[in-house]
Amino acid sequence: MPHTASVKLDDKEFPLPVMQGSEGELAIDTRKLRTETGYICYDQGYGNTGSCESKVTFLDGDNGILRYRGYPIEQLAEKSDFVETAYLVIYGELPTPAQRKAFGLLLRQNAAVETQMQRIFEGFPVEAPPMAMLTSIVASMASHHSELATNNFEKDLQNFDLAAAMAISKTRTIAAMIYRYQKGKPYIYPKQDLPFCENFLHMMFSEPYKEYIAEPEVARALNLLLLLHADHEQNCSTSTVRTVGSSAANLFTSIAAGICALSGPLHGGANGAVLQMLQTIHDEGDDGTRFIAAAKSGSKSNRLMGFGHAVYRNFDPRARIIGKAAEDVLKKLGIKDPLLDIARNLEQATLKDDYFVSRKLYPNVDFYSGIIMRALGIPTNMFTVLFAVGRSPGWIANWHEVASNAKGRIYRPRQIYVGHTKRDYVPIDQRA
Ligand code: SDX
Repeated sequence: MPHTASVKLDDKEFPLPVMQGSEGELAIDTRKLRTETGYICYDQGYGNTGSCESKVTFLDGDNGILRYRGYPIEQLAEKSDFVETAYLVIYGELPTPAQRKAFGLLLRQNAAVETQMQRIFEGFPVEAPPMAMLTSIVASMASHHSELATNNFEKDLQNFDLAAAMAISKTRTIAAMIYRYQKGKPYIYPKQDLPFCENFLHMMFSEPYKEYIAEPEVARALNLLLLLHADHEQNCSTSTVRTVGSSAANLFTSIAAGICALSGPLHGGANGAVLQMLQTIHDEGDDGTRFIAAAKSGSKSNRLMGFGHAVYRNFDPRARIIGKAAEDVLKKLGIKDPLLDIARNLEQATLKDDYFVSRKLYPNVDFYSGIIMRALGIPTNMFTVLFAVGRSPGWIANWHEVASNAKGRIYRPRQIYVGHTKRDYVPIDQRA
């Protein structure tokens, strides 16, 4: 029996079409509601509104399910790596050996950042927020590679493969360069024979006189972190990429907008905030009680960072995987990090606290990721930059869906106006 829907407005009833997704998700199609009834829907923050149909990621917040193109995140975490997962997220299928080889080559061929683009770094104070630097330098790719960024969907789609490889590979290189710039160290250039993550670590930590060779466990941990961040449905930054892309803005410009959205502490900025919270608890010799009490005050500025999620009303499957990986990485590297114990105790304490249980607040992807990044030697202020590197395939895949949708429209939500009603101008000499 097909689902039906109608809306009753005063004494009139309006039938509305129902949409059903491939995983059984149901939606009321309200595209004609305004023209037929004069009413719009109101859903602050669009938490209950579908802005698009997408084939990239499926997540079920009630059951803690996350799949990229149908593949469960748990399987990809165990069996795949970031580059293969990036290919899957962007192109929709796991690559054949030939496709994987070609994609890897394209990434390596487009890893370097042009000398002219390097000059942008010098325009920033050394202590500038890395995400601010990343935004500007990624946005400049549209100028340095204007032939791939014409702001014409048809032309930009013809060059999509190269633009996508550039976006992923150069964003990774720019991230490493930001770290070097802020340390006052010379840039280390990418090597043609290093895999993606090993190359990133090389560009971060090698010295002109001594090459950094990543331990397999370190490279594996970074691959895992990045692939777990590769996409996540219509989160704040991905929706931003789609919104900007819907104006026919090119891929690089749209991704730069996504980086802006990700930099907020309620979104991608939480991973660094989690570590600062854990470090403060450690330095104060607290057991987390003070933070938990403050978090329960309800004020946004005291929230328990790394907890809660706009969609997951159960555990965030990524948090479980990363939490386990944090234990493994520290053990393999022989690191004893007291912050991991504090994080575990905090998680246990909230599981017994009705405030968190009743609001279904569990650790999210950001809660343990910082522990791993710290173990890899990544400084806290670079955590969100790594999140952006990891999320680049998802942003690219979503931009492609917008750009290739012949029936697509520019994103232009409506509003309910609650300001002044009509009033006449008062000359300044008549104002109080
Ligand atoms: C990411 O969307 C995505 O998919 C994002 C992401 C991705 O991969 O792209 O998963 C990545 O952004 C993860 C989230 C990282 N942010 C944080 O860890 C910051 C702390 N978390 C929160 O600020 C909050 O949980 C959000 C922003 C993540 C979700 O906010 P919601 O869904 O809008 O929740 P809400 O503000 O409606 O809160 C519901 C209740 C409120 O209490 P009451 O008003 O009912 O009394 O829960 C409380 C909130 O005060 N609450 C928290 C809390 N999060 C929500 N209380 C204490 N600590 C928290 N962390």
